[in-house]
Amino acid sequence: MPARTLVIIAHPDLSGASRVNRRWAAELDRFPDEFDVRDLYALYPDGVLDEAAVAAERAALEEHDLIVFQFPVYWYSAPALLRTWTDEVYGFGWAYGGEQAAPGEPGRKLAGKRFAVAMCTGDIEANYRAEGTVGFTPSEVIIPFRATANYVGASCEPEPFTLFGTEGDLSDGELERSASSYISWLRAL
Ligand SMILES: Cc1cc2nc3c(=O)[nH]c(=O)nc-3n(C[C@H](O)[C@H](O)[C@H](O)COP(=O)(O)O)c2cc1C
Repeated sequence: MPARTLVIIAHPDLSGASRVNRRWAAELDRFPDEFDVRDLYALYPDGVLDEAAVAAERAALEEHDLIVFQFPVYWYSAPALLRTWTDEVYGFGWAYGGEQAAPGEPGRKLAGKRFAVAMCTGDIEANYRAEGTVGFTPSEVIIPFRATANYVGASCEPEPFTLFGTEGDLSDGELERSASSYISWLRAL
């Protein structure tokens, strides 16, 4: 059986206002043998990760070799809790600070792991290029994720899975197709 993938979802209202991330999360739930899902805003509704939460998040990361961050793009970044999560979970002596340590040992717990990003954008694809109104490609938008992975000795897929135009006239059919493409993309990682 292939190794399970950890999918960390950051959406402030996944079970309510979300359309895309909610549909993608429902698709992940169809394959519980393949995907372990953590819904950060449901786990930490007050936006705080205490010591027990940090320990739980670290344990989840340690159990998986492939970790995917799924979120709606908010201001060319991820919703805020994913930053808080990173600040708290990627601590000195756990994620970094042990350059001489072997991967998986304290200070290098994330070394050798693989990361990827799945995201959706309100704006259209044509604007996510050098000459578009955004001026940057999706691969450039996720540079903080790629740099963070490099820093901790891990790797990050340079191209995120991206669904564009979610605030336009995205049809139900397109949303359905994106859900199955998302699963295919995850399986191919
Ligand atoms: C606070 C906020 C900031 C946003 N910033 C961006 C942005 O920088 N670029 C973009 O293309 N869409 C932006 N959007 C649109 C979201 O990406 C869009 O609502 C999301 O893809 C829809 O996903 P959902 O149905 O799961 O909520 C923003 C939306 C909100 C609420």
